[in-house]
Amino acid sequence: AVVVRHRMRSSGRWAKAAAIVKELEEKCGTPIGKLRQVADAMAVEMHAGLASEGGSKLKMIISFVDNLPTGDEKGLFYALDLGGTNFRVLRVQLGGKDNRVAKQEFEEVSIPPHLMVGTSDALFDFIAAALKKFVDTEGEDSHLSPGRQRELGFTFSFPVKQSSIAAGTLIKWTKGFSIEDAVGQDVVGELTKAMERVGLDMRVAALVNDTIGTLAGGRYDNPDVIAAVILGTGTNAAYVERAHAIPKWHGLLPKSGDMVINMEWGNFRSSHLPLTGIYDQAMDVESLNPGEQIFEKLISGMYLGEILRRVLCRMAEEAAFFGDTIPPKLKIPFILRTPDMSAMHHDTSSDLRVVGSKLKDILEIPNTSLKTRKLIVELCDIISVRGARLSAAGILGILKKLGRDTVREEEKQRSVIALDGGLYEHYTKFREAMESTLKELLGEASDTIVIEHSNDGSGVGAALLAASHSQYLEVEDS
Ligand code: GLC
Repeated sequence: AVVVRHRMRSSGRWAKAAAIVKELEEKCGTPIGKLRQVADAMAVEMHAGLASEGGSKLKMIISFVDNLPTGDEKGLFYALDLGGTNFRVLRVQLGGKDNRVAKQEFEEVSIPPHLMVGTSDALFDFIAAALKKFVDTEGEDSHLSPGRQRELGFTFSFPVKQSSIAAGTLIKWTKGFSIEDAVGQDVVGELTKAMERVGLDMRVAALVNDTIGTLAGGRYDNPDVIAAVILGTGTNAAYVERAHAIPKWHGLLPKSGDMVINMEWGNFRSSHLPLTGIYDQAMDVESLNPGEQIFEKLISGMYLGEILRRVLCRMAEEAAFFGDTIPPKLKIPFILRTPDMSAMHHDTSSDLRVVGSKLKDILEIPNTSLKTRKLIVELCDIISVRGARLSAAGILGILKKLGRDTVREEEKQRSVIALDGGLYEHYTKFREAMESTLKELLGEASDTIVIEHSNDGSGVGAALLAASHSQYLEVEDS
């Protein structure tokens, strides 16, 4: 074990620890005025990203989705949802207006970590094999019309430059994936080749981001849904834009007049963001994607636990917070995961025994005092509330861009935002802080803005979009 340079006296240790917490609190501060600046900057960058390719850090990707589900979708469709540590395969029987989602089956498979940093073929072979296995379980009661090729909605939750509804090249990896030979490749081509290799006859009918899938799934359930936000391992948003408000779109004006935009807001950055040098910037520099996804690194589940670890590390080093030696486990990047942080943050026991056991089990720090545990809960709060409030500011930015952030007398239109992701779903204090901040930011307009949980909407959403882009559609219509 490394020995802390000077042995500190207890009172000096606490004073130093308290000073570190106070400094963190100040630097992570997100007063309402600052959040408004962040929202304004977000709206400005949205305009810039729509104006020209490369016009902003916000890519504002054209999704080629110009029609969202109506409820008429019919038939048997598959979906594949890839974007975090797990991927899911789904089989969805769509029954049109009367029967809606008549049947839904899915399977979840965790991705072996070495495949996240290996080769494109290895990753896609693994996925295609799992998909084939799932397809093989298709029962007699599944109604695939005879002679029809199976069709798939592919949710691929990374920045992809789309060239059509079912093609697009990977711009870069995010969220801990790093497979170099896949960058610049058409991900549908990669998946299709892998499906051929494992002998699976299936056509990718739609390639979508998880935000787009969530928006589609949300709209299917509620026609007032206009945007979707993911707060999970990563963070991102998509929304319905008027096609004529997209100067960089040179294609035909869609019949609907609408085009769904994948913002890739995780890559947003602004001088207004409350970034700390010693924690946030250091984490960024040491990450797989330095300089990228700065908004995501302040907000999302992949990073919150790691920020906490970095603060604890500094407290161990400079305030002998865990005694005279630095617990060696504390030195391991990403050892503290956000679900563990959430469990500590929500500990309601009088002796904070969840905090105690997490410290013991994960970091091998036994016998922590109540005072120590209390300080750690405070750190969880500072770090998660910053992320939650910033995500609320991001949502306000979208509403501003759409002119839906104020109540207009003539039209009290409801705007529903579909939310999904593990952070939103499971980190209650994060969700509550996000929702109350959005209320605070919107003032009286908050009555017309509704946040709705779209539970795993992205998979069903992809199946719905596969249905509306099916190769058999024209034939049936005529
Ligand atoms: C990352 C990805 C983005 C995705 C988000 C949420 O930000 O780049 O495409 O939507 O994570 O999964």
